Amino acid sequence: MCGIVGFIGKKPAAPVLLDGLSKLEYRGYDSSGIAVYDGSTIQVKKAKGRLKVLSELTHDGATMPGTVGIGHTRWATHGEPSDVNAHPHYNKAGTIAVVHNGIIENYLKIKKRLQAKGYEFLSETDTEVVAHLLDYYYKGEPLEAISQVLYRLDGSYAFGILFADHPDKVYAVRKDSPLIAGIGRDGNLIASDVPAVLKYTRDIYFIGNGEIAELSLDAIAFYNTDGESIEKEAKHIDWDENAAEKGGYEHFMLKEMYEQPKTVRDTISPRLKDNDIVIEELGMTDEEIRAIDRIRVVACGSAYHVGVSAKYIFEGMARLPMEVDTASEFRYRNPILGEKELVIIISQSGETADSLAALREAKEHGNLTLGIVNVVGSSIAREADRVMYTWAGPEIAVATTKAYSAQLVAMYLLAIKFARVNGRLSDGQLKEYITDLKKLPEQIEMLLNNDERLQKFANRYVAAKDVFFIGRGIDYAISMEASLKLKEISYIHSDAYAAGELKHGTISLIEEGRLVGAILTQKDLYKKTMSNIVECSTRGAFILAVTNEENTEIEKIADYVIYIPQTNPYFTNSLAIIPMQLFAYYVAVGKGCDVDKPRNLAKSVTVE
Ligand code: AGP
Repeated sequence: MCGIVGFIGKKPAAPVLLDGLSKLEYRGYDSSGIAVYDGSTIQVKKAKGRLKVLSELTHDGATMPGTVGIGHTRWATHGEPSDVNAHPHYNKAGTIAVVHNGIIENYLKIKKRLQAKGYEFLSETDTEVVAHLLDYYYKGEPLEAISQVLYRLDGSYAFGILFADHPDKVYAVRKDSPLIAGIGRDGNLIASDVPAVLKYTRDIYFIGNGEIAELSLDAIAFYNTDGESIEKEAKHIDWDENAAEKGGYEHFMLKEMYEQPKTVRDTISPRLKDNDIVIEELGMTDEEIRAIDRIRVVACGSAYHVGVSAKYIFEGMARLPMEVDTASEFRYRNPILGEKELVIIISQSGETADSLAALREAKEHGNLTLGIVNVVGSSIAREADRVMYTWAGPEIAVATTKAYSAQLVAMYLLAIKFARVNGRLSDGQLKEYITDLKKLPEQIEMLLNNDERLQKFANRYVAAKDVFFIGRGIDYAISMEASLKLKEISYIHSDAYAAGELKHGTISLIEEGRLVGAILTQKDLYKKTMSNIVECSTRGAFILAVTNEENTEIEKIADYVIYIPQTNPYFTNSLAIIPMQLFAYYVAVGKGCDVDKPRNLAKSVTVE
């Protein structure tokens, strides 16, 4: 997604903007640009390609003097990647410049109206409409012009705006696209995400929908669209700067994989009190929990895979029916929701457009909604009735790992809570489950530290064309995530199949040397999946098996076995996924892929 940075301070703005944008590169982009007020006019420089191109064009900002500016990395939505479509966009007089993240859904209608009034457009973007519309409504009062424009926009946006005749101000406003503001030591900033400003400030304001931020040299004021001032509290972000940097690892993804023991521990421990599960943020009495007769999980991508896993866990442990939907389907299906159905939205970024829309759909139905979110203060976190944070810290790599693991354990905690309150879990079982939960971090650590053998194995598959993953029950959910990890960072075609489905068509794809990853962590399903493995191996497949350390039988039929330590059958996803993440990572590295920023992908899909 696009990245926005803005700065007003006592030192040159351009280097700060370029530095901030470099911390947002993970969001995926194809061009970038900055606008700086140089004392008399707004200078704009922008370029297609990586940020490096812009840095070279501006000699690392040296050719753009001035202490007030805005910057942008663009992930194209309307108009192909090009210099002219890059942001910032500006009005004809060059007195107003704007950067934008989101989609203006009614931009064509506005564009036609403005063209009829004589406005000329240089780009194909929706954003340029905003620059001219601001020009149209501007009578010397920025807040007034911004409000007039917002009333006329449909869609999602986060804007950074400069007005040449207000050179001591930077304006920012958002609706559905994330935007933060911060008071730094040498000046004040806006940005799309925390890593861009951590170097300058830890006290962050999460700008709410429709709130306009006015940054001046020594203060940040907030207003609503009626021009009334709003009081806001800054949140202190204690992520250390390294947490948003690579910390010595080759890639953010590898660093974040190795953070999984910590993220799992950080997500579990605040909710373990006196040997019981206490989830205060649920804000529900036992009675209210008992009143829930169905749960629906709605999410995208890996977060959806967590939901698929959770279905087996909630239905097995708490005997509570659970539906799982991809958000992009749920939001347009006019879903039938029961009155007492709890809707859980799982989202790392808390800004995924489809998941946010699904949340709103559920709220329109009057259902209680719970967000399982990683980014503090994100839209889903703020709009859900309840929010349970996964304390995974900033996840920079596009391919999620530590947030996925944190989401899994959040769902385990919820399932245990619901099972307990519904009388489905004895004291003894509760004790056992908590003991197993507490062991997960060290077991994950052990799996991470045994990656040498796996790295060698992965190198054999850098030229693979198709890789299949199979499993039953929770193992099927694990297969889905294993497959997504591999394909999204190595670009190798991969699919996950319920093992029992192979004979209904997929097995025709098995041929000599085809790699099939088989997940067998559910003891009661071992035999079934092992017979599916034989179906594949007799047709020439090479079998990679991930299974519990007790299941040595597997060595008779699998070519390469990875054992995971013993844990509660409901928690095996947290362990089996580790070697699958590592496998995907080493194949992608072996192929020379851009592991942290895979092609065509963005970290947070804030547009449909
Ligand atoms: C997973 O590796 C991908 N990055 C993607 O599938 C991601 O899980 C999905 O886009 C959902 O993102 P969210 O959790 O931020 O809502």
